[in-house]
Amino acid sequence: MTEQNLRRAPWVAAVVAVAVAMALWGARGRVVEAGADTEAARPEFYTAKVKPIFQSNCFRCHAGMNRRGGLSMSTHAGMMKGGKDGVVIVPGDPAKSLLMRGIRHEGSVKPMPPKSKLSDADTATIERWIRAGAVMPADVPVN
Ligand code: HEC
Repeated sequence: MTEQNLRRAPWVAAVVAVAVAMALWGARGRVVEAGADTEAARPEFYTAKVKPIFQSNCFRCHAGMNRRGGLSMSTHAGMMKGGKDGVVIVPGDPAKSLLMRGIRHEGSVKPMPPKSKLSDADTATIERWIRAGAVMPADVPVN
């Protein structure tokens, strides 16, 4: 190597490092995009798939005037506020969501609904919805 080349070497290394970092960052972005559940992240998913489950199994105790455990599930504000033990949904993280533990009968909250268990399909739908960000319309009418 000539002396001039030696002086340039760190610059070349830096440029290559930045190019590699940018390429990796771009690849990462594409992976996240490919894995994102865009269907479940739409408010329409809540209305069509999730709300009917809550309506048949939860709203009679957790909507409107009925706020057992301090929890009202019929509005976005009520759902995000949670109940007497704090937040019940951590958007994107079903495992940390108290609501999920309730319907899975996993302790730290009483089994929900108290006297039955949701089907595996309904449980999976709710889990999918929370994982995709628990998106729901700003106001969800009780009926
Ligand atoms: C028959 C009434 C009833 C139904 C139906 C019901 N719940 Fe509950 N829920 C309660 C009661 C009562 C509590 C408070 C339990 C306690 O004493 O800790 C509660 C508490 C909760 C809590 C914990 C709130 C907190 O902060 O501690 C969650 C989450 C919850 N319910 C979710 C649900 C979901 C989801 C459904 C439907 C799948 C549902 N519940 C159906 C009566 C009900």
